[in-house]
Amino acid sequence: MSGRATAGTADLAIRGGPPVRSSFLPYAHQSIDDEDVAAVTATLRSDWLTTGPRVRVFEAGLEAVTGARHAVAFSSGTAALHGAAVVAGLGPGDEAITTPMTFAATANAVLYAGAEPRFADVEPGTLLIDPDEVEERVGPRTRALFAVDYAGQPADYPRLREIADAAPRGPLMVVADASHSLGATLSGRAVGTLADLTILSFHPAKLLTTGEGGAVLTDHDDLADRLRRFRNHGIATELSERRDWTYEMVELGFNYRLSDIGAALGSSQLRRFDGFLARRRAIAAMYLARLGGHDLIETPMVREGADPAWHLMVVQLRLDRLTVDRGAVYHALRAEGIGVNVHYIPVHRHPYYRARYPDVRMPTAEAAYERMLTLPLFPAMTDGDVDDVVAALDKVTAAYRA
Ligand SMILES: Cc1ncc(COP(=O)(O)O)c(C=O)c1O
Repeated sequence: MSGRATAGTADLAIRGGPPVRSSFLPYAHQSIDDEDVAAVTATLRSDWLTTGPRVRVFEAGLEAVTGARHAVAFSSGTAALHGAAVVAGLGPGDEAITTPMTFAATANAVLYAGAEPRFADVEPGTLLIDPDEVEERVGPRTRALFAVDYAGQPADYPRLREIADAAPRGPLMVVADASHSLGATLSGRAVGTLADLTILSFHPAKLLTTGEGGAVLTDHDDLADRLRRFRNHGIATELSERRDWTYEMVELGFNYRLSDIGAALGSSQLRRFDGFLARRRAIAAMYLARLGGHDLIETPMVREGADPAWHLMVVQLRLDRLTVDRGAVYHALRAEGIGVNVHYIPVHRHPYYRARYPDVRMPTAEAAYERMLTLPLFPAMTDGDVDDVVAALDKVTAAYRA
């Protein structure tokens, strides 16, 4: 909004002035109610604590919400990514193209499978993987595309599918890291039905939680069977299905099982999921309305046909109009009681990845990283909390206006 005045910095909480909030507002927080607690408590009193009947009930709930044919629950989103990388067929000598604008777990999963991630830069407005950049990197070693639904918006799966089908080793597996996007749609199609394999995370900061947990969604029966074995040491039957002591380990797997305790929490959370999503969308709409057109802050772009789940609200600072860098704005906002965060340090810039791939440059992701801030966004936030965030952003950016 034009006309916002330049103010001095003396009033900033970081300089000893009065903060916008007296209580700290985090960027994310789980929503747990009495029914969630009762569901977990009932499980603790039941015969099954590890993977049992409640895991299957939770998986059926995820299938109902997404329309995916199969949901296979895992002990974390990272474990689910590992499973997806292996059943996608990745192995030594293969490459998977992925985005630098994600949590390291996405690229790490490709390495777990013995393959190499190749980074493709993101689009500037959405920070989603840029299909043109993907297309340029597809080669004879490419076996899969790992997109990420950054901040809750689905990547351009129709374009990625075309690229996958036209690849020299095509059709490639298209994997969606939907850790941020459960409930989102693209042209009316739900996340979970847009890629060959879709990964969910149920970490407490995410759209619903099981404590720790994750899942892979797929329409492919054979991949679902392999995922079920992979999460259970490579054993063909689960404990609850066995008639006697016999079981057969048929391939090398891991213990990546979700517990019935976590699944009970997940099913209880799923009952409120529509409400969580509606509230996230309402808060996002408030932010977009209040900050759209701000002369010091850019709001995220939503692609035509996309209805994001709004896991994150990531804005970008107009550093060319400010006297300080993002770090100073971050610290000033936290002093005001606003728990801003940064998502993400581009994966290729972590020391491990820099040492492994020293020549990788991702100009769009790197430039966005220098300017980005994640604003608080979770279902229990009130409209007054949103007012506080906007007031603090106005206060801090006005103080640092060039
Ligand atoms: C995009 C993305 N991928 C993967 C993960 C890993 O999920 P988890 O923490 O459940 O292992 C996360 C969350 O932390 C994430 O944000």
